[in-house]
Amino acid sequence: MTIIVTGGAGFIGSNFIYYQLQKHPEDRIVCMDALTYAGNLKTLKEAMTHDQFRFVKADIADRGAVNQLFEEEHPDIIVNFAAESHVDRSVVNPEVFLRTNIMGTQVLMDACRKYGIKRYHQVSTDEVYGDLPLDQPELFFTEDTPIHTSSPYSASKAGADLIVLAYARTFKLPVSITRCSNNYGPYHFPEKLIPLMISRALADESLPVYGTGENIRDWLYVEDHCSAIDLVMRKGREGEVYNVGGHNERTNLEVVRTILRELDKPERLIHYVTDRPGHDRRYAIDPAKIHNELGWLPQTRFDDGIRMTVQWYLDNQSWWQDILKGDYQNYYQQMYGNR
Ligand code: NAD
Ligand code: TYD
Repeated sequence: MTIIVTGGAGFIGSNFIYYQLQKHPEDRIVCMDALTYAGNLKTLKEAMTHDQFRFVKADIADRGAVNQLFEEEHPDIIVNFAAESHVDRSVVNPEVFLRTNIMGTQVLMDACRKYGIKRYHQVSTDEVYGDLPLDQPELFFTEDTPIHTSSPYSASKAGADLIVLAYARTFKLPVSITRCSNNYGPYHFPEKLIPLMISRALADESLPVYGTGENIRDWLYVEDHCSAIDLVMRKGREGEVYNVGGHNERTNLEVVRTILRELDKPERLIHYVTDRPGHDRRYAIDPAKIHNELGWLPQTRFDDGIRMTVQWYLDNQSWWQDILKGDYQNYYQQMYGNR
């Protein structure tokens, strides 16, 4: 089979490519990525040495480039990871989120219609469900929870999901969608909570916790997300949505304290800063459907996953320090300078 992986030079897409190359060495993997600030070819260095791997620099919203790739590769499966993915950036500049996440998805869907595919898989997020209150721990997101978005990012991801489901119903395209909770692990861009806190704590810099630090996220080790996508795109039912999560809820403060303990750094590095506008309170996934239908279960406990992740950032300092040397300093100043 030939599988096009869009956004494969980013965090989850690259982990997915390595997962595929190892688990299904018989399949050809074609990565299509525009290499925005979040894409990094260094991440794919090992993959580049693989006979079954091809990298193409292209934008998913570029219809000509997408059609050309479909004509060259005759893909069986498309997995769409390509997206603008950071909520804080979507607060500052929503437009590019709508362009890539919604229009880009639609261009891919049109190519699937035109050329025919066995499966189009959309990598979505639990953020399309909005948030849950902090004082009702018995509530979880199921696949039937109404779409109720809070940020331009989540609204754009929800828009993409609706386009995918509309193309499935109207044009009978074979699609599937996974909605996963927050991921962590290797190659995570240091603008997101966990790698930001690891990289700053290592430099003894202040750790900016939004609001009171009581917001809750449901953390999943990235390899467990990759195994879920692999199962759904190969064996999941057409036209279905599957939630993915491992019941690993932590407050942001708990996450930051765990990182400090792992690095043997003091809690006085924590600084409370002005909250994110519209900050979602709690995400929590009910993964019963993917478990019951496909037998999926996460393999990595949070404490082990965090330890492995911290170790990866210690062992791969040049990967993230190169990122910090670029435009990142301007980004940090713009986002955190006046908080
Ligand atoms: P990321 O920001 O690390 O990577 C995104 C990748 O997409 C980058 O390589 C970037 O260059 C590429 N890209 C951006 N715009 C593009 C365009 N127009 N054309 C082609 N490529 C483009 O993101 P991530 O954290 O790896 O997330 C991947 C997907 O998973 C996203 O769709 C995101 O919404 C979803 N998701 C992420 C999480 C999480 O915790 N990170 C959780 C659930 C779902
Ligand atoms: P993030 O990694 O941006 O993921 P998302 O907003 O998509 O869940 O943030 C995770 C949580 O951490 C979220 O509640 C916001 C919080 N946060 C901070 O407290 N400080 C920070 O510097 C960042 C980036 C996030």
